[in-house]
Amino acid sequence: MRQPSQTLLFVCLGNICRSPLAEGIFLHLAQQRGVADRFSVDSAGTGGWHIGKGPDPRSVAVARKHGVALPSRARQVRGDETEHWNLVLAMDTQNRIDLLDLGFDASKVRVIRVFDPTADAEDVPDPYYGGDDGFEHVYAMLLAACNGLLEHLTRES
Ligand code: 4NP
Repeated sequence: MRQPSQTLLFVCLGNICRSPLAEGIFLHLAQQRGVADRFSVDSAGTGGWHIGKGPDPRSVAVARKHGVALPSRARQVRGDETEHWNLVLAMDTQNRIDLLDLGFDASKVRVIRVFDPTADAEDVPDPYYGGDDGFEHVYAMLLAACNGLLEHLTRES
């Protein structure tokens, strides 16, 4: 297995709903295309309320329904890891602002929906306080964004 050449961090607020789902979907797509060994991925939250917990059961359920596993545990992103990541995928514009405040270079931090050419808005909405249908909606958004992201990252290799 060759060394992973690209390090990607998916970031939301709590690291229990959107970013673990994005991480799981991205890895699943990369595995399906036989390119998972090119990437080292993780997810984190800008907030620290859920440190050590697994993803929200509604994220786990929607992922499982689509054959996607979510292996991550919640953690809080730190200002001392800015150099480690080639690319940081924020779930919404506020997450991006918070990452820049922590010291991440603006050129490395993208809102994930910019990789979906069909997206009609920038943010992946936070589904935490809503119902199960919000999680299906977020899954569909993240699937489109992760497909575009993977396409972007593998285009020139
Ligand atoms: P996430 O959703 O940022 O997609 O993980 C949230 C989960 C928990 C909280 C906020 C957002 N919370 O405030 O506890």
